[in-house]
Amino acid sequence: MKHPISIIVAIFVAVSAYANNGEASAKPTFYKEVARIFQKNCQECHRPAGTNYGGMVAPMSLVDYDEARPWAKSIAKQVQAKKMPPWHASEVHNGQFKNERVLAPEEIATIARWVELGAPKGNPADAPAPKEFQNHGGWMIGEPDLVVPMPAPYVVSDDVDDLYTAFHVDLTPELLAEDAWITSFQCKPGSKIIHHFNCHLLYPDAEGKLPEFEGFPDTEKGEIAPQGAGQYLGGVSSGTDANMYPEGFGYLLKKGTRVTFDIHYHKEPGPGTAVTDLSEMGFKLSRTKPAREITSPGPLMNFAINIPAGDKHFQIGPVSQVFRKDSEIISLMPHMHLRGTEAKFELFYPDGRHEVVLHVPRYDFAWQTVYYYKEMKPVPAGTRIQYTAWYDNSAEMAVERKFDSTVNVTFGEKSTDEMMMGFVQSADVVKAAGTD
Ligand code: HEC
Repeated sequence: MKHPISIIVAIFVAVSAYANNGEASAKPTFYKEVARIFQKNCQECHRPAGTNYGGMVAPMSLVDYDEARPWAKSIAKQVQAKKMPPWHASEVHNGQFKNERVLAPEEIATIARWVELGAPKGNPADAPAPKEFQNHGGWMIGEPDLVVPMPAPYVVSDDVDDLYTAFHVDLTPELLAEDAWITSFQCKPGSKIIHHFNCHLLYPDAEGKLPEFEGFPDTEKGEIAPQGAGQYLGGVSSGTDANMYPEGFGYLLKKGTRVTFDIHYHKEPGPGTAVTDLSEMGFKLSRTKPAREITSPGPLMNFAINIPAGDKHFQIGPVSQVFRKDSEIISLMPHMHLRGTEAKFELFYPDGRHEVVLHVPRYDFAWQTVYYYKEMKPVPAGTRIQYTAWYDNSAEMAVERKFDSTVNVTFGEKSTDEMMMGFVQSADVVKAAGTD
């Protein structure tokens, strides 16, 4: 006879195998099973005043049964196709990134089964306690320590389709009395016509002086950022999170710094389409110097883009850089435009090992995701990081993403032009005192 414990173990193994097979509970209801899945994976966006990810705002709330019920079929379709929750990296990376949004196979199966059964409501007594969400006036970083609005509201006139412009604010002592360190920040669009909005910092010189503001360059010449605006800090475009540094990191914000709002407005032109914008930047600040500094190698990019008309799977790159010092990767971000469909970051270690650190096989321009590591990724000096990107300029994709597939596509700022950029945020490894 078998020992009772081994039977219990066998049952346990069988039950977990059942659960991990992506099997649904037999008769799921909204209140008993589904509401919990929505709370954990959907309601951050799908609720009244849900989080605004660079203009991506969920079209409906999935908090109450009556709100969710009409969407049942569409919900099943979206979760089975892995379009919702929005997350475009390969499953092989599950568990590695802090901002991951994925459903377990059994959660997808439960939702699908619930919809098959006609989306039953169930017993309200089974419902989980409602989840509380903080709104902070739309600041994902929480209540900022410093908010810098544009100097004045700006009218984007009727005739504008694409406009690249820049505004600046020189921080007065009233705004910032002493040097501080940015621990997180957010560019918060003040209108719905912002294609992207980046932040640059220019420190004053030893006498506390700043040069004349140079403004935006000639985009016709392919110049893509304001001139003389200093260092690029980060920003927002469709689908991006706020910029948050890991514990122990910060970016210096000197008193008297010039903050530049680098904005691309995009809308349909025509009578009555003018929009007034008043965008803001919010900063969380620390008064103490952080232990570590970000020393990223700079973006991996290629400007010599020429994607043939009609090409379904056009590769650009690889492009690569070498880490000169022992480093740790904080985050990775592929950036392409409408035709981008796939991206890959790979590491080639000095000992000959090779690793795909991020593969995004379902790249979607609408979701400009920064992939933040839960645990920073260690890379020894001499490691080469390589970035490759793929584009679909076919007639089928043109219908889905609305572009002209009969033209060759070159580098440019517009969504209908292309880019090939791989952003790597990293830091030098700091040796503990006395270990050198
Ligand atoms: C990070 C924010 C976010 C999360 C998390 C999220 N959604 Fe969405 N969802 C959106 C946005 C924004 C849209 C509209 C734009 C789009 O389709 O991409 C959308 C669209 C949808 C649609 C299509 C609506 C339509 O107009 O047809 C469905 C269905 C949906 N979401 C269901 C879900 C479910 C179910 C979950 C959780 C399992 C979820 N979403 C998680 C942001 C989110």
